[in-house]
Amino acid sequence: MGSRIVGTGRALPRTRLVNQDLESRLDTSDEWIRSRTGIEQRYVLTNGESLVDIAAEASRTALSRAGLKPSDLEAIVVGTVSSDFGFPSFACQLQDRLGITDIPAFDLAAACSGFIYALSVADASMRSGDWKRVLVVGADALSTMVDWNDRRTAVLFGDGAGACVLVTEPGPRGVLGSLLRSAGQHWNLLSVRNSAGTRCTYDSEVRRTADEGIQMRGPELFRIAVRSMEEVTRRVVEKAGVRLEDVALILPHQANARIINAVADRLGLSADKVFLNVGRYGNTSAASVPIALDEALEANRIHDNDLVLLNACGGGLTWGANLVRW
Ligand SMILES: CC(C)(COP(=O)(O)OP(=O)(O)OC[C@H]1O[C@@H](n2cnc3c(N)ncnc32)[C@H](O)[C@@H]1OP(=O)(O)O)[C@@H](O)C(=O)NCCC(=O)NCCS
Repeated sequence: MGSRIVGTGRALPRTRLVNQDLESRLDTSDEWIRSRTGIEQRYVLTNGESLVDIAAEASRTALSRAGLKPSDLEAIVVGTVSSDFGFPSFACQLQDRLGITDIPAFDLAAACSGFIYALSVADASMRSGDWKRVLVVGADALSTMVDWNDRRTAVLFGDGAGACVLVTEPGPRGVLGSLLRSAGQHWNLLSVRNSAGTRCTYDSEVRRTADEGIQMRGPELFRIAVRSMEEVTRRVVEKAGVRLEDVALILPHQANARIINAVADRLGLSADKVFLNVGRYGNTSAASVPIALDEALEANRIHDNDLVLLNACGGGLTWGANLVRW
């Protein structure tokens, strides 16, 4: 008995920042950002907005497309590193917003790989018969974690949430397999001190100092991200006993168009098999893969029985992939 995605949704903060908006604030340019990252705009949380509300909106859309009510859920799993509280978890806050009680709700902290990890854990528990209807969410607000004076990181991130509803179903469709990896020895390539939750928004008076903002060693991270996303893609396909050529669409974590294109080149995949939307959202961390999935479905890029591969790499370092028969 496998798990199948039967509804998806996405939601974003109200404020859209185009690259030109950043030019007035940082020593950067639209040309630099576009050519190094492919990013043209991003949505950022502003003072008073709640990422939990945004995740709830994405979740309600996914539930309604699945034809289910919040009270039908048997578990909530959220990939996030953006809870405003040390505890309760983001998932428990989301459970409250959805008005449901008495089911397990918990977070998985794997930074940009959070959704891949959450989907893998939800699928494993569903296979073992623990739950039949599960909400899996990726939600992050890394724009609130950068030092807004640091042009090397401030231009990269956007905020948002994506959600999926999974149900158990007999038959060949659904999550075929997942692979998760971590390399703790590289923890300091991408890190942030967990001091302020999402309070330090773009427009807030409260600012993260250089020490409190995201610390990133970009070029090293770039090289490892390319290698690890290639490796995990090949291995998840091999483990499932299918061929890479049979995969109809890859939905990679949207950190940087150059990383995505380099992975596609190494895998020998044509551009039409790789979904790219980083230009519109920036790097939304754990939200990026479910947002991409929701957009790909809306754009009719995924059809019944297609093999779809999701992959990501992020702070930890963590990386992983899920292979899904649609
Ligand atoms: C961050 C990243 C885009 C930088 O691109 P890069 O080509 O490696 O650029 P570098 O870091 O070598 O910097 C090149 C120059 O651009 C400058 N620069 C950095 N950010 C800039 C910005 N926003 N605007 C203008 N110039 C900038 C640097 O200061 C440097 O100048 P210098 O040569 O005078 O010192 C790239 O390394 C990357 O994408 N890494 C992975 C990051 C990532 O995806 N993180 C999340 C993983 S989940």
